[in-house]
Amino acid sequence: MTRTVRLNGIAFGGDYNPEQWPREVWQEDVRLMQKAGVNFITVSVFSWPLLEPEEGRFDFGWLDEVIELLHSAGIAVDLATATATPPAWLIRKHPEVLPVTADGVRLAFGSRQAYCFSSPVFRAYALKLTRAMAERYGNHPAVRLWHVSNEYGDHVARCWCDASGMHFRGWLKSKYSSIEALNEAWGTSCWGQHYLDFEAIEPPRTATGPINSTQRLDFERFSSDAMLELFTAEVQVLREVTPELPVTTNFMSILHELDYFKFADAEDIVTDDAYPDPADPRSHVDAALNYALMRGAKGGAPWLLLEQSASAVSWREVNVPKAPGVMRLDSYQAMAHGADGIMYFQWRAAKFGPEKFHAAILGHRGERSRTFAECSVLGAELAGLAAVKGSRVVAQVAMLCDWDSNWALAAPDSLPTDRLPWIKAARAWHRATFGLGATVDLVRAGADLTSYKVLLLPNLYLVQPELAAQLEAFAAAGGTVVVGPFSGVVDANDHMHDGGAPGPLRPLLGVEVDEVWPLPDGTAGEILLAGEPRGVHTITEWIDAVDARIVARYSGGELDGRAAVTVREHGAGSAWYLSAALAEDGMSVLMAEILDEAGVARRPLPASAEAGDAVELVVRRGPDSSFSFVLNRGTDHVPVDLPSSATVLVGGSAASTVPPRGVLVVQHDHADAVVLAAEPGAATDFSTPLSTPTAEVTP
Ligand code: GLA
Repeated sequence: MTRTVRLNGIAFGGDYNPEQWPREVWQEDVRLMQKAGVNFITVSVFSWPLLEPEEGRFDFGWLDEVIELLHSAGIAVDLATATATPPAWLIRKHPEVLPVTADGVRLAFGSRQAYCFSSPVFRAYALKLTRAMAERYGNHPAVRLWHVSNEYGDHVARCWCDASGMHFRGWLKSKYSSIEALNEAWGTSCWGQHYLDFEAIEPPRTATGPINSTQRLDFERFSSDAMLELFTAEVQVLREVTPELPVTTNFMSILHELDYFKFADAEDIVTDDAYPDPADPRSHVDAALNYALMRGAKGGAPWLLLEQSASAVSWREVNVPKAPGVMRLDSYQAMAHGADGIMYFQWRAAKFGPEKFHAAILGHRGERSRTFAECSVLGAELAGLAAVKGSRVVAQVAMLCDWDSNWALAAPDSLPTDRLPWIKAARAWHRATFGLGATVDLVRAGADLTSYKVLLLPNLYLVQPELAAQLEAFAAAGGTVVVGPFSGVVDANDHMHDGGAPGPLRPLLGVEVDEVWPLPDGTAGEILLAGEPRGVHTITEWIDAVDARIVARYSGGELDGRAAVTVREHGAGSAWYLSAALAEDGMSVLMAEILDEAGVARRPLPASAEAGDAVELVVRRGPDSSFSFVLNRGTDHVPVDLPSSATVLVGGSAASTVPPRGVLVVQHDHADAVVLAAEPGAATDFSTPLSTPTAEVTP
C-alpha cells in the first residue's frame, strides 16, 4: 500500500513546541505562521511528560487545542508519537531503562533520549503512548504524517546495559543457531575467545585490549537492528490503528551508526535533518552527498527536509549564522536534490533550555527578526513551486554505500591505518564529482543500476560475492565501475578473502593487492597521471596489474614505478582501480576522464565562476516536464541561456544571469537541454528518459 503525505504543494514549516509558551502566544504563532506561508507543522516531539503526566493518565487537552488551532488556519500536522524522551516518573520507577556506556557507566536523566532502545520496559511504555496517540489523533483531518520518536541514534546510538546484552544474545542466536557457528564466524580460536554457549556472550564492553572484530561488527549490526526493531514496533501499532497514514522517522543525514537503508524500507517517506555548517564554505558539497542518500534510500523517491536551521545552530563549539541568502540557497539545494518539503527546527526561538541560541523562523525579535523575513520570502516562493513536487532527480552516477562495510572498517587498533573511515573517502570522491558538475545518487548493494553510467565505490572493505556478480553484470552491460583502495578485503564475517584483496572483485578489476602501504600522518606520496605528478595521501598499495592496463604509476618512495591506477575493459564497460587516496587535484583530473569516457552529462564549468563548487546545476524530471535548479554560491554572476520552452519559476523571467547567492528554477520540456552559458554551445543534455516517476508525496 502506498501511503503519501496529503499536502497541497511543497511542505513548508517546522518543529513547534507550544508547550514552552503560554496559551496567548499560540494564537499569535498561528497568525504569523500564516503570514510566513507555513502549511506543515511538527508537534509533540518531546511532549511525553505533558501527554502522560503520570503513569496511565493521559492529558491530551492542550494538544487537542494546538492541533485544532493549526487545522483552523489550514496548517497540516506532522504528529510525533512523543516517544523520543521518557518522562522523569518512568525513569524513577524504572531506572534500568537508562542507557549504559561501554565502561559500565549508567547515564543519568537530565537530557533527552534517556533510554536504552533494547529495554523491554521502555518499549512497553512507548507502545502504550503510541497507541493512545494513534487512537486519539489518527482520524484528525489535520494529521498527515506520523513522526516516530526523533533522530534515532542521536545522543545514544549504542548501549551496553544488561537488557542490551540479553537482546544481543537473542539476536546472535537467531543469526547463528549454534554456538559452533558463532565460534567459527567470530574466529574465536584467536586469542582464546572460544564460547561454550550463548549465555556467556556479553556486548563488547571496554576490555583489556582490542575486541574480537567480528563480535564488534555483529554488535554494530545488532545495535542498528535493535533500534530499527523499536521503530518498527511503533510503526506496527500505527499501521494497525491508522493504516492510511504515512510514517517517517527523521534521519540525521549520513549517520555511521544506523543502516538507513533498512530504516527507509520500514517507513513511507524519508525525512532528513540537515545542518550544513555555515562556517565551512564547502559544507553544501557534503550536504549534496547527504541528500544523495535521502533519495537513494528509497529508489529515488522525493523526501522531506524536516529540519534545518533558519540561521545558526547552538550545538557546535562556534555557531556561525547563515549570511543573508544562504538559508534560501540551502533550501533550494535540498529541493533540487529531491526534497518536496522545506522545514525548520524550529518555528519559534526558545526562551530557555539548551537551544535558546538556536535560530528559528521566528527569532527572539519576533516578526522583526531577519530569519522571519527571509523565511517568509521563501515561503511565498515555494507556494508557487507545487509543479516540482513528485519529480525525481536525474543522476547518471551512483555511489555505493554499505553500512556493514563501514562498520567493519571502523575497527580500532586492528587495521593498517585508522585514518580510513568510509565517509572520508566518500566525501573526497563526491567532492570531485560535484566540482565537475555531475549529480550523484547514493545507493545500496543490490540497487537497480540501470539508469546509471558510472558506479563509484570509494572504499568497500567488506565485499560479498553477490555484489561482485552485480558489478560484473553492470560493467558487462556498458557501465563503468570505479573502485578505491582497501576494497574487497574481507567477507561478511570480517575474515580476509582467500588470496587477499580485492577478493571477489579480482576478476572484474584484474589487479591483486600484495600489501597495503599506509602513509604516516602528515606525509604524502606521488603518482604520475597523464605525465603530471599528483599527490596521494593516507593510503597507497603495492598492487600487481595482472589483467589490467596501468593508467598511472607511483613516483618516488618504496612503490616507485609500480602500478597505482588501472583500468580493465569488461564486456561493454570498464572497471577502474585506484590503489591510493588521491589529493583533490589529481582526483578531479582522473574523475573528469572517467566521467567523460563514460559519457556522463555534466554541467559545463562557467568560465566566470571561481571554482566548480560555487555553481550547482541539478535537474528533476516529472511526468510532463523537467525542472532545472541553478544555485550560485560564488561572487560572480553566472550567465544562463534558457531553453526556448523554459518557464522561469524562481529567479525572474528575464533572467540572463544568476546573481551571487542567487537561485534560478526553470520548468521546461524534457527534450530541452539545460544550458549554463559562458561556454557558447556547451549544453548539459539530461534528455535521456528515466522511468516514469512515481510521486511519493501526492499533490
Ligand atoms: C535535532 C533535533 C531537534 C533539535 C535540532 C537542533 O535535529 O531533532 O530537536 O535539537 O537538532 O539543531
